[in-house]
Order: sequence, then structure tokens, then C-alpha cells
Amino acid sequence: PVTSPHPLFSNAAIARRVRELAAQIRRDHHGQPLTLLPILKGALPFAADLLRALERPVQVEFAHASSYGSGRSPGALSHGFAFDPRLLRDQCVVVVDDIVDTGQTLSRIIADIRAVGPRRVSACVLLDKPARRHAAVSVDYVGFAIEDHFVVGYGMDDDGKHRELPYIGIVEEASA
Ligand code: IMP
Ligand code: MG
Repeated sequence: PVTSPHPLFSNAAIARRVRELAAQIRRDHHGQPLTLLPILKGALPFAADLLRALERPVQVEFAHASSYGSGRSPGALSHGFAFDPRLLRDQCVVVVDDIVDTGQTLSRIIADIRAVGPRRVSACVLLDKPARRHAAVSVDYVGFAIEDHFVVGYGMDDDGKHRELPYIGIVEEASA
């Protein structure tokens, strides 16, 4: 039997926070060329909402990442980019992800993006789970900090499940 994730952030609460983050990013990049770089797949809904809330011209390029581990413990990271790196040359790049946990994904992707030599690189995540951080990464824009729960919805999955939920919920620890 499938139990519904226990609600943590409603769709309305997420939408409010996304508008605030967009306003902050807009202020910080006034008059500068801006690229959003969502990390697929989890960042898809967040990045799509953020993009529309920015209300200014934005270039969009994608990265992808997945950690192969057992269950919910992250293992080796596979990541890559789907664009010509020259597209980032004179851009202020905001890397967008659903959640930062150990920090491995963001720190690797940010390092690769920096190597291309853009004007500036920053990071924006909807959720920050600081409890399990082991890779040093500074995140400039954070939606919500959360306790060490496994969360799903709004793009985040549990082994492929629950990405489509419009809200963010906590899955029962027992099903880990
Ligand atoms: P990190 O590399 O450990 O920081 O993990 C980041 C990636 O792991 C995120 O982009 C998510 O895809 C995934 N992840 C981490 N915590 C959760 C969670 O609680 N639910 C769903 N996915 C998560
Ligand atoms: Mg992810």
C-alpha cells in the first residue's frame, strides 16, 4: 500500500518563497546578463517557476546529475552538461537545484561551471538540508532550511516516485 507523503510545504508556501527568491536574484543581477542553469531532473519544477517569476530576460541551459547509491544514501555522482560551454562566457550563472544535502552535486557542478570562466557563478536551491553536508559549498539563495528528512514532490523523487506532487512532503522513514 502506498502512503501519501506527509505535507511539509504547500504549493502556496512554495510559490510565495519562489517569488521572494526571484526578487532577490533580480535585484542582485540588475543590468547583467543572467543564465539559469537547472540541474535535471529534480530542479525542473522549481526552475520553471523561478524562471517565470524573474520577469526579466534570462538565458536557460541545463546540467544533469544523479548519484548512484543504495536507497537514499548518495553514492558516486554522474553529471554532465547539455550545452556549448562558450554560451556561459559573459554570463552571470545561477545554478538551480531542488535540494542541497551532502553538497557533492552542487560543489562539482559549480567547479565545472567556474572552469568555463563566466562572469559570476552563484547557486540557488529551494531546500537546504545542512545536517549531512560534507562538501564545502556556499549557496547564495535558499528557499527553506529543513531537518534531516527525506522529502519528495515538486520535482524530488524517492526512487522515481512522487516527482509530480505539487507540494513537498516527507516520506515515512520505514519505507527507506
Ligand atoms: P547532494 O549531492 O548530497 O547535495 O544531494 C543533492 C541531490 O540529491 C539533489 O539534487 C537531490 O536530487 C537528491 N536529494 C538529496 N536529498 C533528497 C531528499 O530528501 N529527497 C529527494 N532527493 C534528495
Ligand atoms: Mg537532484
